[in-house]
Amino acid sequence: MIKSATQETIGEAALRLRSGEIVAFPTETVYGLGADATNGQAASRIFETKARPTFNPLIVHVESTGMARKLGHMSEEAEKLCQAFWPGPLTLVLPRTNNCPATELVSAGLPTIAIRQPNHPVAQQLIERAGCPIAAPSANRSGHISPTRAVHVAQSLSDPGLLIIDGGECSAGLESTVVKTDRKAIYILRHGAVTAEELEAAMPHLTIVSSDETSSAPQSPGQLASHYAPRHPLRLNANTVEEAEALLAFGKPCPGAPYTSLNLSRDRDLREAAANLFAHLHALDASGCERIAVMPIPNTGLGRAINDRLTRAAQSSSNRVESR
Ligand code: TXA
Ligand code: MG
Repeated sequence: MIKSATQETIGEAALRLRSGEIVAFPTETVYGLGADATNGQAASRIFETKARPTFNPLIVHVESTGMARKLGHMSEEAEKLCQAFWPGPLTLVLPRTNNCPATELVSAGLPTIAIRQPNHPVAQQLIERAGCPIAAPSANRSGHISPTRAVHVAQSLSDPGLLIIDGGECSAGLESTVVKTDRKAIYILRHGAVTAEELEAAMPHLTIVSSDETSSAPQSPGQLASHYAPRHPLRLNANTVEEAEALLAFGKPCPGAPYTSLNLSRDRDLREAAANLFAHLHALDASGCERIAVMPIPNTGLGRAINDRLTRAAQSSSNRVESR
């Protein structure tokens, strides 16, 4: 049930959260599937509805740094990161506090908890009115393309009773960047809407360690090789289009571009490309093509997160082709 983001809808959603139900809501990155993070039964509904493996922990959304401090132990470096990037698409993985009120389920048995303060008025009001931290993964079936519009949520999670707050299109369109930090470094566990370059500029005294550069960097348990999967296979770094393929272009479309083609950004603007990525994948996947050819995207700034999602999506689709 999709309802536009009026005060009344947000009030209804807050009530549902308080009584242990789940609701879908917009953030600046992607739509989230939320539950009261302090209620184990409510959180377990998220795993059930998404068919998500329970070893994959959830991000907890807060309305302030004060709320975050009750959940996770903030080092000096973590405090600085909050000041620089919150509210916004940066998730911090912190040691759980001794009296952490969040259910263990959100941490999937780890001694840590992932926290972020979203920069979206609907998400912020929802947390405030519910009066509790909200655990929320992306509101899609586990392993599938993330939702950047309310209708994507309805299509991915076939639960007619689920309240989906429609806040329009997500502005960033890519999930948050997940990091851990110590005195020496920031470890990027998942590339996302905050770039490595932005982290470096904000914290010049720390080394930025990217999970794709060194295998010794701690990994985010949710970063399975195959993820974000469309139904049709993807072919990456395409400079031509083959028969029965749809094209996901970037910049000037390659020669022979088919009728079914969408452009991430004609101007080669990575921010625009990130915002369009999931919506274009959803649309091309529904277009009746047999495969989606994706033009090369530079691996800098937001391009790293975009390429991370595309590589995982391609990986899932080739797995499925092989196993058919
Ligand atoms: O932008 C976002 O982050 C969106 C919106 C809704 O906020 N949420 C999102 O959640 O993308 P999800 O569940 O799809 O991804 C959460 C990621 C996973 O890769 C998970 O493994 C990682 O965060 N994560 C959560 N808790 C963690 C922890 N304690 N340690 C390491 N990684 C953690
Ligand atoms: Mg997700």
